[in-house]
Amino acid sequence: MTRFGHTEGGVFDPLAELGGSLLQFRAIAPGAREFVPPQANVVARRQTTPLFGLGLIEAIPDETILALAALPEVDGVSGRASMVRDVASGEMRVGRFGWKAQQATLLSFSADAYLNEMGITSRLFPDENAPNGNAALLAQFDRVADPEDVTGPDGRSAIDALADFQRLLAPPAPRPLTENGTAGKTLFGSVGCAQCHVPELTTGENPVAALSGKTVALYSDLLLHDMGSLGDGIVQGDAGASEFRTPPLWGLSASSPYLHDGRAANVDQAIRAHDGEGRAARDRYNALTRTQRNQLLEFLRSL
Ligand code: HEC
Repeated sequence: MTRFGHTEGGVFDPLAELGGSLLQFRAIAPGAREFVPPQANVVARRQTTPLFGLGLIEAIPDETILALAALPEVDGVSGRASMVRDVASGEMRVGRFGWKAQQATLLSFSADAYLNEMGITSRLFPDENAPNGNAALLAQFDRVADPEDVTGPDGRSAIDALADFQRLLAPPAPRPLTENGTAGKTLFGSVGCAQCHVPELTTGENPVAALSGKTVALYSDLLLHDMGSLGDGIVQGDAGASEFRTPPLWGLSASSPYLHDGRAANVDQAIRAHDGEGRAARDRYNALTRTQRNQLLEFLRSL
């Protein structure tokens, strides 16, 4: 995916009236494809985030994430919760999905993706996104009455089914730890990775038994951190231009390339690119012996 916008004097404008910040580069007809407008001076690439384990992440109470944000700053690490208005419930909630923690629930996440990634309106997002903001062009190609995702007599539609599907996709099972992996796990803590990549959180009470009171080994605090030079310049939801949510590390061995824009071909490169609040941990990683680094990487491969 590509996002664009315009920054001047430290103020970010998503250029919404020109179709930003998300670029819809695919369309049902070539004439309706979006382009990056000349007004944009920020263009950022984004990878798709993995979809497994999301029901467990959704079931982690807001209070748990807020308590992590309230911990005293150590080593320049001071995460903050992303507060967003959840479109589905209308409530202010702690965002936890997406690179910028811009979504709090799977229903809102799904409805947002329906509209912005696939061009399908729903009860939560009833208004079409015109190509580069051009309403006349939209009228020429959009011949289906809105909302296109029709709510049935039970109050449910495709966005609800999509949210349920994602809710119940299990995370991959971690591999058993070897001796080196066990040593790597200790290093993960002592180097400071676990300050942000918190090994475990616990879900609250949940109507779905499989999601209720579960230990979630996601390796994330779900907080926003200022990552310095890794920043992509895009302000989204509550997140600033250089902030990102700590990405969960489960399933890491199957999700290359790494980082928000996929710039890191392997895990070692991803760690060495940490900056801002991640700088102290990165420097300690760089200072490890080769044997220790391999132990840490072996641990990460087991997740
Ligand atoms: C200050 C919080 C913080 C600390 C400390 C930290 N990370 Fe991260 N980590 C992040 C954030 C935020 C990202 C996403 C950055 C991006 O995509 O540009 C990330 C990304 C990653 C990724 C890539 C994940 C993916 O799916 O692309 C790996 C691997 C990783 N970190 C491992 C580590 C290791 C190992 C350490 C310890 C040496 C560490 N991190 C320390 C916050 C942190």
